[in-house]
Amino acid sequence: MPHTFIIFGASGDLTQRKLIPSLYQLFRKKRLPKETRIVGFSRTEFTHDAWRAELATSTAKHLGKDFDAGVWDSFSQNIYYHPGDIGHADDFSKLARLLKDIEKSDKSTRVYYLATAPRFYEAVVQHLGCSGLADETHGPRRVIIEKPFGTDLASSLHLNNAVRAVFSERQVYRIDHYLGKETVQNLLVLRFANTIFEPIWNRNYIDHVQITVAEEVDVGRRGGYYDTAGVVRDIIQNHMLQLVTITAMEAPVRYEADAVRGEKVKVLQAIRPLTSQSVCTDTLRGQYDGYLKTEGVAPDSKTATFAAVKLWIDNWRWQGVPFYLRSGKAMSCRTTQIVVQFREPPHMLFPDGPKSAAESNRLVIQVQPAEGIQLHFETKVPDAGMKLRQTDLDFRYQREFRATMPEAYERLLLDALEGDASLFARADEVEAAWAICDPILDEWARSDKPPLLTYEPACWGPPESTEWMNAQGRQWFDICPVLH
Ligand code: BG6
Repeated sequence: MPHTFIIFGASGDLTQRKLIPSLYQLFRKKRLPKETRIVGFSRTEFTHDAWRAELATSTAKHLGKDFDAGVWDSFSQNIYYHPGDIGHADDFSKLARLLKDIEKSDKSTRVYYLATAPRFYEAVVQHLGCSGLADETHGPRRVIIEKPFGTDLASSLHLNNAVRAVFSERQVYRIDHYLGKETVQNLLVLRFANTIFEPIWNRNYIDHVQITVAEEVDVGRRGGYYDTAGVVRDIIQNHMLQLVTITAMEAPVRYEADAVRGEKVKVLQAIRPLTSQSVCTDTLRGQYDGYLKTEGVAPDSKTATFAAVKLWIDNWRWQGVPFYLRSGKAMSCRTTQIVVQFREPPHMLFPDGPKSAAESNRLVIQVQPAEGIQLHFETKVPDAGMKLRQTDLDFRYQREFRATMPEAYERLLLDALEGDASLFARADEVEAAWAICDPILDEWARSDKPPLLTYEPACWGPPESTEWMNAQGRQWFDICPVLH
């Protein structure tokens, strides 16, 4: 059966940076289903050939040495363009005719990708419904929706209702590109394809978990968007809570979309709701010095570019184990890591041994950029009495597999074409994530507690973040990954 991948918002940045390069890579690796056509839809006037030429240039730029002009020629024969306005019902009927023409088959699988500005999602979905493009009589119809999926719980409920009026949940693929990362999927493998970690993966052995998504870059040219979003909406509500769920979930009964997502939702539902009081004591917010000078940012903006949040998961496995989340722009280095900090030994025989949890065993999952896993443990320094030192077992993808990490979108686009929604967020998952973030956003908007702290770029956020952690007898794992 032919497959057609239709991109709304085709002239935008995402199409050029991620979607087309990923589809090209799938084609080059011979993974794209046979007879896959790509159709771009947006207002800019292009002929098919003009769009192909534009994409050839942008794809070559983004892929560098992975771009092969000969492969591109074969790939691009299946790219089409349809100029149209999201506001015009008629343009969707014309699109329907074009799709019929190019598919040359009575049956096809269609995947609609919403890469437009979020305010148009609802209109696109409605038009797809009205023009019969969501109807499955002639094959599966799926819709991929980019983040942000709403800006709070109320708006995500509204959007989910609008989507549900046209598509059933099994047709909807809400994308979070973190789930397409190899290292994030490997966390499931680490936990559920090995026996040695699971028995200790709980409150009896783990002191706390800390998850950091640090970015060295600042807001750059995205000030207009970022100033309305801030770090909680941009990173914590989606990417970081996804990392929390995969770290904390129970083993699903099967590796299958609803079984996996069902377990993830249970984690989100078990997270203790934050109150005004706990937002004040258990969250920190910061803004890097210089942010206010960014184009598109209000001169008196209170938007947080850094946040640290302490969450509690109220279930049998995690009772009493805090999960610390921290993310920021303009930080010391780019690193996404999950640190599982184990408890200190119950009785220390060696005077030189770990004296606190911070010096005890630690499992560091480097999500990016130095993808790998390190297990830290104590060792006896040779020929030095009973002197101990922490060392580690160090697994690195680069060394082990010598392969470059694929772009997260490759895996996700292929899964959507093949109908596997395991790595996409379900409606209840997105809603539960907003329910966790709403009290933080509300309280931060309403009061000046906690205060908005300032931090110097190229640091680990405001110094108060270190003090806050130390006051709880813990330490942030402030180590930039070594790339080699
Ligand atoms: C996006 C955010 O979702 O994720 C960006 O909007 C952020 O602000 C990006 O830079 C981070 O993604 P990655 O894959 O580089 O960690």
